[in-house]
Amino acid sequence: MPGEVTRAAAPSAPATALIYDDWYPAIRASEIRGKQMAKAMLLGIPLVLGRKSDGRYFAMRNSCPHRGIPLSYGWFDGQQVTCKYHGWSFEPASGQCREIPSLTQQDSLDPCKIHATAFPCEERDGHVWVYVPQRGKGRLPRPSPTEGLERGTQDSYSRPRDPERDASHLPPVPEVPKFSRRFKSAYLTADLPCNIDHGIIGLMDPAHGPFVHQSWWWRSRASIHEKEKHFEPIEQGFRMTAHQPSANSAPYKLLGVYGQPITTTIDFVLPNRRYEVIRCGEKWFASLTTVTPTTENHCRIDVCAAWNVFLNVPLVTPIAKFFGRRFVRQDQLTMIQQAEGLQYNPRLMLIDDADRPARWYFELKQARLESQATGKPMRHPINGPVTLHWRS
Ligand code: FES
Ligand SMILES: [Fe+2]
Repeated sequence: MPGEVTRAAAPSAPATALIYDDWYPAIRASEIRGKQMAKAMLLGIPLVLGRKSDGRYFAMRNSCPHRGIPLSYGWFDGQQVTCKYHGWSFEPASGQCREIPSLTQQDSLDPCKIHATAFPCEERDGHVWVYVPQRGKGRLPRPSPTEGLERGTQDSYSRPRDPERDASHLPPVPEVPKFSRRFKSAYLTADLPCNIDHGIIGLMDPAHGPFVHQSWWWRSRASIHEKEKHFEPIEQGFRMTAHQPSANSAPYKLLGVYGQPITTTIDFVLPNRRYEVIRCGEKWFASLTTVTPTTENHCRIDVCAAWNVFLNVPLVTPIAKFFGRRFVRQDQLTMIQQAEGLQYNPRLMLIDDADRPARWYFELKQARLESQATGKPMRHPINGPVTLHWRS
């Protein structure tokens, strides 16, 4: 189903460190049609994406390994991507070069030893997810100053596949949890003119709700009350559990009509994922919200939701999307305004307890970056269950 793309043009916050070796949503699958190639930006890497005749998606660095022209200017016939400059052809899922038209019988260069950079790529919930390895490892070599114009020997261009990096060895591709065969789903997106850190801490910030998301159908400033929330560490993140969720939020009000106890869990998982699952007997509502760095100082929020409540009631999906879109726009507008201030690199604060999840995010990210740098296991910054209190 087509998503609603809201573009933001505004000053942006300073750049920040990015987490590699993980899956990120690059583009909606619906934006890749037939044999057309589509472009996307992920962690500052320009990508060209497409779908082969056998149905498999591919994602390559949008740069020909010969002289760097974007491959998206070339041609794709459903099997191979051909560069528009000198006509080199590549099998796009592996990046392997298959043909160099200028070679003669005199040449010993085997085109198959040459690889363009290709990334593992899978479709989930209508998104094409791309695995972005650490620069300098696997199939994403760090460009050296001379690499661009090395002599064309087989060895200098050879970029063999690293079996360690094959998709079967990678972590599972993230997706919205689903608890029944029949469900409905919806999708929203918005660009955020800030770095990934501000995008993510905005995602887990409980105190902005009554101010940014004021509306008659959701909540007002007057509805602020004290809350107690229980958290526990989970792999690469933390979980908030509740058996009687916040009574003043819409999905809970709606699920309340089923008259059964409602439980909710909200997980944050590095590098950028917020899973929310609300269950009430057989009925469920689940979402996966990601904030993806497109560059070092821009990101994009994507919300994928699925549910089996009111399956037979007409107009539920358009109404849910209408309110969801308004909600995301309220966050987006606030971040555009925040970016106005952040461009001057002000000193900022994290205060207890409402900002504790944000602090955990920074600690988790630091631990992950350290573990990737040292090769040692990741040290989890949260030791055990924690109860937090705030008013929102
Ligand atoms: S730049 Fe692509 S084939 Fe020469
Ligand atoms: Fe928000």
